[in-house]
Amino acid sequence: MNQDVERILIDEEEINQIITRIAAEIDRDYANSNKRLLLLCILKGSVVFMGELMKKITVPVEIDFMKVSSYANGSKTSGSVNIILDILRKDLNECDILIVEDIVDSGRTLSYLTEYLKLKGAQSVKTVTLLDKPSRREVEFTPDYCGREIPDFFVVGYGLDYAEKYRALPYVGILKPSVYNT
Ligand code: PRP
Repeated sequence: MNQDVERILIDEEEINQIITRIAAEIDRDYANSNKRLLLLCILKGSVVFMGELMKKITVPVEIDFMKVSSYANGSKTSGSVNIILDILRKDLNECDILIVEDIVDSGRTLSYLTEYLKLKGAQSVKTVTLLDKPSRREVEFTPDYCGREIPDFFVVGYGLDYAEKYRALPYVGILKPSVYNT
Protein backbone atom coordinates (compact mmCIF):
# COMPACT_ATOMS: atom_id res chain seq x y z
CA MET A 1 0.00 0.00 0.00
CA ASN A 2 1.21 3.53 -0.73
CA GLN A 3 2.79 5.09 2.37
CA ASP A 4 0.58 8.21 2.14
CA VAL A 5 -2.60 6.12 2.25
CA GLU A 6 -4.19 5.61 5.67
CA ARG A 7 -6.35 2.69 4.58
CA ILE A 8 -7.91 1.17 1.50
CA LEU A 9 -11.58 2.11 1.20
CA ILE A 10 -12.43 0.09 -1.93
CA ASP A 11 -10.02 -2.62 -3.06
CA GLU A 12 -9.41 -3.85 -6.59
CA GLU A 13 -11.76 -6.80 -6.26
CA GLU A 14 -14.67 -4.66 -5.09
CA ILE A 15 -14.02 -2.06 -7.81
CA ASN A 16 -14.10 -4.86 -10.35
CA GLN A 17 -17.42 -6.11 -9.00
CA ILE A 18 -18.87 -2.59 -8.98
CA ILE A 19 -17.90 -1.94 -12.59
CA THR A 20 -19.21 -5.33 -13.72
CA ARG A 21 -22.56 -4.50 -12.08
CA ILE A 22 -22.76 -1.01 -13.63
CA ALA A 23 -21.81 -2.30 -17.09
CA ALA A 24 -24.63 -4.86 -16.90
CA GLU A 25 -27.10 -2.10 -15.95
CA ILE A 26 -25.93 0.01 -18.90
CA ASP A 27 -26.14 -2.96 -21.28
CA ARG A 28 -29.69 -3.64 -20.14
CA ASP A 29 -30.81 -0.01 -20.45
CA TYR A 30 -29.26 0.74 -23.85
CA ALA A 31 -29.73 -2.62 -25.60
CA ASN A 32 -32.79 -1.47 -27.52
CA SER A 33 -31.86 2.13 -28.19
CA ASN A 34 -31.80 3.33 -31.78
CA LYS A 35 -29.04 5.85 -31.03
CA ARG A 36 -25.28 5.27 -30.75
CA LEU A 37 -23.97 5.13 -27.19
CA LEU A 38 -21.30 7.76 -26.58
CA LEU A 39 -19.25 7.50 -23.39
CA LEU A 40 -18.05 10.97 -22.49
CA CYS A 41 -15.07 10.82 -20.13
CA ILE A 42 -14.49 13.88 -17.98
CA LEU A 43 -10.73 14.28 -17.65
CA LYS A 44 -8.63 13.63 -15.82
CA GLY A 45 -9.94 11.68 -12.86
CA SER A 46 -12.37 9.50 -14.82
CA VAL A 47 -9.85 8.00 -17.18
CA VAL A 48 -9.18 4.81 -15.20
CA PHE A 49 -12.88 4.12 -14.53
CA MET A 50 -13.71 4.87 -18.17
CA GLY A 51 -11.07 2.44 -19.41
CA GLU A 52 -12.41 -0.41 -17.32
CA LEU A 53 -16.09 0.40 -17.84
CA MET A 54 -15.88 0.54 -21.64
CA LYS A 55 -14.28 -2.92 -21.71
CA LYS A 56 -17.15 -4.42 -19.72
CA ILE A 57 -20.02 -2.81 -21.63
CA THR A 58 -21.03 -5.14 -24.44
CA VAL A 59 -23.28 -2.85 -26.50
CA PRO A 60 -21.21 -0.90 -29.09
CA VAL A 61 -19.80 2.35 -27.70
CA GLU A 62 -18.04 5.42 -29.04
CA ILE A 63 -15.88 7.52 -26.76
CA ASP A 64 -15.07 11.19 -26.38
CA PHE A 65 -13.50 13.47 -23.81
CA MET A 66 -14.08 16.80 -22.09
CA LYS A 67 -12.07 18.55 -19.45
CA VAL A 68 -13.65 20.98 -17.04
CA SER A 69 -12.51 22.79 -13.97
CA SER A 70 -14.88 23.74 -11.20
CA TYR A 71 -12.50 24.92 -8.55
CA ALA A 72 -10.34 28.04 -8.28
CA ASN A 73 -6.88 27.55 -6.78
CA GLY A 74 -7.65 24.09 -5.51
CA SER A 75 -10.46 25.24 -3.27
CA LYS A 76 -14.05 24.21 -3.82
CA THR A 77 -15.58 27.62 -3.32
CA SER A 78 -15.77 29.18 -6.78
CA GLY A 79 -18.96 27.41 -7.77
CA SER A 80 -18.36 27.97 -11.48
CA VAL A 81 -17.53 25.38 -14.11
CA ASN A 82 -14.98 26.23 -16.80
CA ILE A 83 -14.73 24.20 -19.99
CA ILE A 84 -11.06 23.57 -20.73
CA LEU A 85 -11.51 20.97 -23.47
CA ASP A 86 -14.83 20.98 -25.28
CA ILE A 87 -16.54 18.24 -27.29
CA LEU A 88 -16.24 19.10 -31.00
CA ARG A 89 -18.55 16.60 -32.67
CA LYS A 90 -21.80 17.96 -34.10
CA ASP A 91 -23.90 14.78 -34.02
CA LEU A 92 -24.91 14.91 -30.36
CA ASN A 93 -28.59 14.54 -31.25
CA GLU A 94 -27.82 11.14 -32.82
CA CYS A 95 -26.18 9.79 -29.66
CA ASP A 96 -27.16 8.53 -26.25
CA ILE A 97 -24.60 10.42 -24.18
CA LEU A 98 -23.41 8.85 -20.97
CA ILE A 99 -21.12 11.17 -19.00
CA VAL A 100 -18.50 9.18 -17.09
CA GLU A 101 -17.21 10.63 -13.82
CA ASP A 102 -14.96 9.35 -11.07
CA ILE A 103 -16.71 11.23 -8.26
CA VAL A 104 -19.67 13.51 -7.61
CA ASP A 105 -19.12 16.03 -4.85
CA SER A 106 -21.03 19.35 -4.92
CA GLY A 107 -22.87 18.11 -8.02
CA ARG A 108 -21.98 21.27 -9.95
CA THR A 109 -19.89 19.64 -12.66
CA LEU A 110 -22.45 17.09 -13.74
CA SER A 111 -25.52 19.29 -13.41
CA TYR A 112 -23.76 21.94 -15.49
CA LEU A 113 -22.52 19.49 -18.12
CA THR A 114 -25.91 17.83 -18.49
CA GLU A 115 -27.53 21.18 -19.28
CA TYR A 116 -24.61 22.27 -21.47
CA LEU A 117 -24.84 19.18 -23.68
CA LYS A 118 -28.60 19.58 -24.03
CA LEU A 119 -28.08 23.19 -25.13
CA LYS A 120 -25.69 21.82 -27.77
CA GLY A 121 -28.45 19.60 -29.14
CA ALA A 122 -28.16 16.38 -27.15
CA GLN A 123 -31.53 14.76 -26.45
CA SER A 124 -30.37 11.85 -24.31
CA VAL A 125 -27.90 12.61 -21.54
CA LYS A 126 -27.28 10.36 -18.53
CA THR A 127 -24.49 10.16 -15.98
CA VAL A 128 -22.44 7.41 -14.38
CA THR A 129 -20.07 7.88 -11.47
CA LEU A 130 -17.82 5.45 -9.67
CA LEU A 131 -18.11 7.32 -6.36
CA ASP A 132 -20.69 9.67 -4.89
CA LYS A 133 -20.45 11.89 -1.82
CA PRO A 134 -24.10 12.89 -1.31
CA SER A 135 -23.25 14.68 1.95
CA ARG A 136 -21.26 17.26 -0.05
CA ARG A 137 -24.05 18.28 -2.42
CA GLU A 138 -24.54 22.00 -3.10
CA VAL A 139 -26.94 21.62 -6.01
CA GLU A 140 -29.61 18.97 -6.41
CA PHE A 141 -28.18 16.17 -8.53
CA THR A 142 -28.58 12.40 -8.67
CA PRO A 143 -26.39 10.31 -11.00
CA ASP A 144 -28.21 7.74 -13.12
CA TYR A 145 -25.65 5.03 -12.30
CA CYS A 146 -23.50 5.01 -9.17
CA GLY A 147 -20.76 2.66 -8.07
CA ARG A 148 -20.71 3.42 -4.39
CA GLU A 149 -21.79 6.20 -2.08
CA ILE A 150 -19.03 7.16 0.35
CA PRO A 151 -18.73 9.46 3.37
CA ASP A 152 -16.75 12.70 3.07
CA PHE A 153 -13.30 11.06 3.18
CA PHE A 154 -10.33 12.50 1.28
CA VAL A 155 -9.99 9.71 -1.27
CA VAL A 156 -7.27 9.14 -3.86
CA GLY A 157 -6.40 6.44 -6.35
CA TYR A 158 -8.18 4.84 -9.30
CA GLY A 159 -7.90 8.17 -11.15
CA LEU A 160 -8.43 10.45 -8.16
CA ASP A 161 -5.57 12.72 -7.20
CA TYR A 162 -4.19 15.04 -4.59
CA ALA A 163 -1.93 17.63 -6.25
CA GLU A 164 -1.79 15.35 -9.33
CA LYS A 165 -0.41 12.40 -7.34
CA TYR A 166 -1.86 8.94 -6.58
CA ARG A 167 -4.02 8.67 -9.74
CA ALA A 168 -2.40 5.37 -10.74
CA LEU A 169 -3.11 3.51 -7.50
CA PRO A 170 -5.26 0.47 -8.38
CA TYR A 171 -7.58 0.99 -5.38
CA VAL A 172 -9.50 3.86 -3.73
CA GLY A 173 -7.70 4.83 -0.55
CA ILE A 174 -8.14 7.39 2.21
CA LEU A 175 -5.25 9.87 2.25
CA LYS A 176 -3.41 10.47 5.50
CA PRO A 177 -4.35 13.95 6.82
CA SER A 178 -0.64 14.65 7.41
CA VAL A 179 -0.19 14.73 3.62
CA TYR A 180 -2.59 17.63 3.01
CA ASN A 181 -2.34 19.41 6.39
CA THR A 182 1.30 20.40 6.00
C1 PRP B 1 -13.39 16.26 -9.78
C2 PRP B 1 -14.20 15.11 -10.34
C3 PRP B 1 -15.39 15.78 -10.93
C4 PRP B 1 -15.60 16.97 -10.03
C5 PRP B 1 -16.68 16.64 -9.04
O1 PRP B 1 -12.60 16.77 -10.81
O2 PRP B 1 -13.48 14.39 -11.29
O3 PRP B 1 -15.16 16.22 -12.26
O4 PRP B 1 -14.36 17.21 -9.34
O5 PRP B 1 -16.93 17.72 -8.18
P1 PRP B 1 -18.30 18.51 -8.11
O6 PRP B 1 -19.40 17.51 -7.98
O7 PRP B 1 -18.13 19.34 -6.85
O8 PRP B 1 -18.42 19.36 -9.33
P2 PRP B 1 -11.37 17.75 -10.55
O9 PRP B 1 -11.83 19.16 -10.75
O10 PRP B 1 -10.71 17.42 -9.25
O11 PRP B 1 -10.39 17.42 -11.78
P3 PRP B 1 -9.57 16.09 -12.17
O12 PRP B 1 -10.58 15.04 -12.51
O13 PRP B 1 -8.77 16.50 -13.36
O14 PRP B 1 -8.71 15.71 -10.98
